[in-house]
Amino acid sequence: MSSTWSEMVHQPEVILVTGGAGFIGSNFLLYMVARYPTVQFINLDRLTYAGNLMNLRSIEEAPNYRFVRGDVADAPLVERLFREHGISTVVHFAAESHVDRSIMTPLSFVLTNTVGTVTLLEAARKAWGDHADPRRFRFYHISTDEVFGSLGPEGYFTEFTPYNPRSPYAASKAASDHFVRAYYYTYGLPIVISNCSNNYGPYQFPEKLIPLTILNALENRPIPIYGKGENVRDWLYVHDHCTAIERILLFGRTGQTYLVSAGYERTNLELVTQLLDLLDEELGRPAGYSRRLITFVKDRPGHDFRYALDASRLRQELGWQPAYTLEEGLRETIRWYLSHRDWLEAVTDASYRAYYEKQYVLR
Ligand code: NAD
Ligand code: TYD
Repeated sequence: MSSTWSEMVHQPEVILVTGGAGFIGSNFLLYMVARYPTVQFINLDRLTYAGNLMNLRSIEEAPNYRFVRGDVADAPLVERLFREHGISTVVHFAAESHVDRSIMTPLSFVLTNTVGTVTLLEAARKAWGDHADPRRFRFYHISTDEVFGSLGPEGYFTEFTPYNPRSPYAASKAASDHFVRAYYYTYGLPIVISNCSNNYGPYQFPEKLIPLTILNALENRPIPIYGKGENVRDWLYVHDHCTAIERILLFGRTGQTYLVSAGYERTNLELVTQLLDLLDEELGRPAGYSRRLITFVKDRPGHDFRYALDASRLRQELGWQPAYTLEEGLRETIRWYLSHRDWLEAVTDASYRAYYEKQYVLR
């Protein structure tokens, strides 16, 4: 980044990163801990099925990094962390993040995503009030485009699109966004929010479309496509998301929302086909070999048809742009999974297999 430290809107000293052992959180920590050695990073993570300390091995000994196992909804723990570590910045990733699981167990989504966020906001409000220099405080909430609902074939979500969440996951995230904004308007807590499109890349748990497709293709298992595969998602390589978060954290305007997207819209069928073709190429398999694994299955209930974001505020105001094309990002992702079979094996244990057997039976 060309800007200097003094030009930053926000200068972090001690950052509480929640959910830093998950997919996006661990990519963010791996990027930031090395890049900002004078900033302290405290990672609070409950280590659910989606959190994995293996992801963070390369920074676990770093002097500016520390891990704490715990729940964001545990008020005494969160308050103690703010007090003991002099936390002045929060980057809040921790969440239950999978739509299909939210259809089966919505309450756990409310507890982590909504109650957990309000618990953090309360502790942050107190710490901000007690802080020697409250202007140096910032609460950054990471959210999703799913809060806006479902688009038809045309148009884009913008920062002004009304909320219309349609899955339990989206509803719990929408509620958390509303609370974060309520703390800004009611108490003046310095917040910033970003809503991003579908991420993919290293360390993503193989329940989401891209890593699930890679895993099943490696094991010659069916690749489930919901409905006709015509639903559209807007794909963002996780490293590009991390550079966007860095910019928004340091330079974003307090109270603002930024939408993050690289503009790669694809139908699920187009995406899976491209991914399988690239995988076959990387593995030296005959062209089109893995396409035969594509299996159309019963649609997800309430399946949002299309997501697409207009990220012009982020691009114009903060000068962000993605570094990866979709093809480059998919190739990087495939190469990462191929060279980290141990990681895939570790996360796909007996409970993972049992979960997927049940999914297939239900369909
Ligand atoms: P993830 O499921 O991979 O990781 C979530 C992490 O949070 C895990 O490490 C888990 O152990 C931890 N966690 C869960 N409940 C917790 C609790 N109660 N207390 C403390 N830690 C807890 O999720 P992700 O894909 O990395 O998503 C991170 C954030 O980005 C989420 O807020 C999600 O809503 C948002 N987001 C994700 C995407 C995406 O495509 N992955 C897109 C838009 C927004
Ligand atoms: P997913 O990765 O679960 O992300 P989200 O639901 O948050 O967008 O799914 C991406 C798209 O792929 C979504 O339209 C649902 C679809 N999908 C499948 O067709 N098959 C699958 O096995 C999964 C997990 C998702």
